[in-house]
Amino acid sequence: MEYGRFDDEAKEYVITTPRTPAKWINYVGTLDFGGFVDSTGGGTLCKGDPSLNRIVKYIAQTPAGDFKGQTLYARFRPIAESGAPDRREAWRVFSPFYVPTLDQWESWECRVGLGYTRFVTRFYGLDFDIRIFVPRGESREIRDIRARNSTGRKLELDLVPVVEYTHFDALKQLTNADWVPQTMQSRALGDERGRIVLAQCAYMKRGTSENFLASSAPASSFETDRKRFLGANEYGTWSRPQSLDAEELGSHEACRGDNIGALMHRMGVLEAGASVRLVTQLGQARTTEDALADIERWRDFGQVDGAFADLARFWDEYLSVMRVETPIPSFDSMVNVHNPRQCFVTKNWSRYLSLYQLGLGADRGIGFRDSSQDAMGVVAHMGSEARELLEKLLSVQRRDGSAMHQFNPVTMVATEGDSAEYPDRPHYYSDDHLWIALAVCAYVRETGDAAFLSKKIPYYEKDAKGKPRESAAVLEHMARAVSFTRGDVGQHGLPRLGFADWNDTVNLRSGAESVFTACLYGAALLELAALAEATGDPKAASRWRAWHAEMKARVNDCAWDGEWWIRYFDADGTPIGSRSAERARVWINSQTWSVISGFAEGARARKCMDSVYRYLNTERGLKLFWPCYDGYDPAKGGVTTYPPGAKENGGIFLHANPWAIVAECLIGNSDRAWRYYQQINPAARNDSLDSFEVEPYVYPQNVLGDEHPQFGLGRNSWLSGTASWAYQAATQRILGVRADYAGLVVDPRVPGAWKGFTVVRRFRGATYRVRVLDPRGAGKGVAKASIDGRALEIEDGSATVPVMPAGTAHEVEIELQ
Ligand code: GLC
Repeated sequence: MEYGRFDDEAKEYVITTPRTPAKWINYVGTLDFGGFVDSTGGGTLCKGDPSLNRIVKYIAQTPAGDFKGQTLYARFRPIAESGAPDRREAWRVFSPFYVPTLDQWESWECRVGLGYTRFVTRFYGLDFDIRIFVPRGESREIRDIRARNSTGRKLELDLVPVVEYTHFDALKQLTNADWVPQTMQSRALGDERGRIVLAQCAYMKRGTSENFLASSAPASSFETDRKRFLGANEYGTWSRPQSLDAEELGSHEACRGDNIGALMHRMGVLEAGASVRLVTQLGQARTTEDALADIERWRDFGQVDGAFADLARFWDEYLSVMRVETPIPSFDSMVNVHNPRQCFVTKNWSRYLSLYQLGLGADRGIGFRDSSQDAMGVVAHMGSEARELLEKLLSVQRRDGSAMHQFNPVTMVATEGDSAEYPDRPHYYSDDHLWIALAVCAYVRETGDAAFLSKKIPYYEKDAKGKPRESAAVLEHMARAVSFTRGDVGQHGLPRLGFADWNDTVNLRSGAESVFTACLYGAALLELAALAEATGDPKAASRWRAWHAEMKARVNDCAWDGEWWIRYFDADGTPIGSRSAERARVWINSQTWSVISGFAEGARARKCMDSVYRYLNTERGLKLFWPCYDGYDPAKGGVTTYPPGAKENGGIFLHANPWAIVAECLIGNSDRAWRYYQQINPAARNDSLDSFEVEPYVYPQNVLGDEHPQFGLGRNSWLSGTASWAYQAATQRILGVRADYAGLVVDPRVPGAWKGFTVVRRFRGATYRVRVLDPRGAGKGVAKASIDGRALEIEDGSATVPVMPAGTAHEVEIELQ
């Protein structure tokens, strides 16, 4: 069944029923101030940190129809013969979002836009058009509400925006039901025009701030105490708050308890066909008094319209870096709009706040491995923001070259992740630090900013005064990363696993080795060698190539199993991922990454990728391994806590899929690369979402595998490394347009049936319109290339378009063989 459609013109996905099979969301603002809005108007917000500065209480685990943090109530009643409001008539109370009143809608659309969500709905003949967004750079969420009386009769209309606050400490809110309510207080500030600002505060150890709810219109009453709002000692419900039956709210200033903000706006008598507009703002300031002048500014509709236009401009600019036109609409929707948008979101939020990553614990935050990869997804679109993120990551790298697993973006305190809970296992992750080398090189290839390599950045270790003990150039950080791995090998000479590698859940006893980490190390060395060559350091290049050759030989000596590569050796030297085992015989990551790292060549490369296809492919994507584990095994760790087919236990963990696309492109297998792309493309699944359940406009992290009874069910949408890698695979490998030190490489691997495609790409300030013609349907192998009519050299079937002056525009013509 369909639950909506892509509107590429408006760059929106239009959800056409509130009853989606799972809650679907959209992001507004950024981690500086923002959060998500769900498909029925609920949502949460935070400023800087979802765990320690959360504003709205949103309990994701309650049923979909329950109130979730924010809503708007509307109520109306007919006008009596005399023309005066008919006080004998009861109010008809409903929410134009559907939740939490669950009234039958006449029409309903939730338009998931870029940085905003727009609801266009009709209930009881009343039309609503509501836009929710965070103006760029602002600490406030705007809800711009328009209501129109389409009933054909005069009526009286009231609007009541409501928010439920959480304690700033989002986890405390759920674990301490005495201290928290004792500390929460609200007060109301009125002005001479009858407008009210509700201020909500709790003292934070890190300095107090206040949340405020205000609107553009006068409010005749308000409520800040949930118990009074719902009524009947809280036996009133969110679907039918008793206080909304009375003419006015109780106007209580809560001095403890569950704090809410509710403003009563009597919009007055609405003639048939007449409209009203109300703008609410929910924000945070040091004190609400400080914020009053700003609040006043945002009551102005012109200000709000200007901010909305500014948001659209930001996104036009962001997306204009790469525009594609191919024969496949579901590919174009993803590559032109939704995939780069998801890359923006993952870069911003890492794995910090979603419906699945609840962002509660103060020990969570930005993941080293995740953010390194996320940065790769946005380098072309926002190079300087990517660099800032890379600098933060480098500053939590240790002096020995390994990295802390995650950090809190506000305090910059880093932690070791889940490994700290297992005292008997190593505490570092063997792959984390290696990703940064890939990310830094991607940044320099894209921007040409080689000066960044000599920028000094501190390592994580601090002295007693909190001063970093040592700083080094970015290049040295990367050198230490690979040196750490080179010096940390086990009995086969392969990198030791640490607590885990990319797969967080395979936690083997100390002394185990990881073939994947060996390959990632190899890939990092290839990157460093290419970088050294491009920056004129042949000595370094040959060192990195020698290290690469050394590990390549070891992997080829000990990890080839006949048809595929082994994935791990445990502490006893027993292989995991071998035909000799009963379970977990074939794993995807050691196949894909042995190709990406150049360790697998020729027949082995083809054979291992054929094994991926034979043993791991399903019509819903590639599984992590096969066959699944069946029951808890402390020797394997977390992976065995999942039932067969779920998540890391042989599920379709989407993040690993684009790596197979990259690997197939590298060995020239365009058709299989395309098949792998399209079978996980959520936009291509829009007409059959009943089993998939999650948003068709973003990649989820996991889909249940075919050993699970609910094969095909997606979960953990939005915050997944799939976004970055699907985007890289689609643009750099399938379309084959990628940044390199010397220019823009064009080297497609597309289905022959396409017969061509067009890419408009901005690269280092110049714009290139690349037209690829493929009259014979070869799908790959550049035969002819020119820029502005001048022929370009072809090397190994690919062309490199030279870097042209910033601000200029160029026509690039490519013909495949
Ligand atoms: C989660 C983690 C990521 C890890 C993956 C596989 O997505 O955020 O870091 O690589 O799981 O275990």
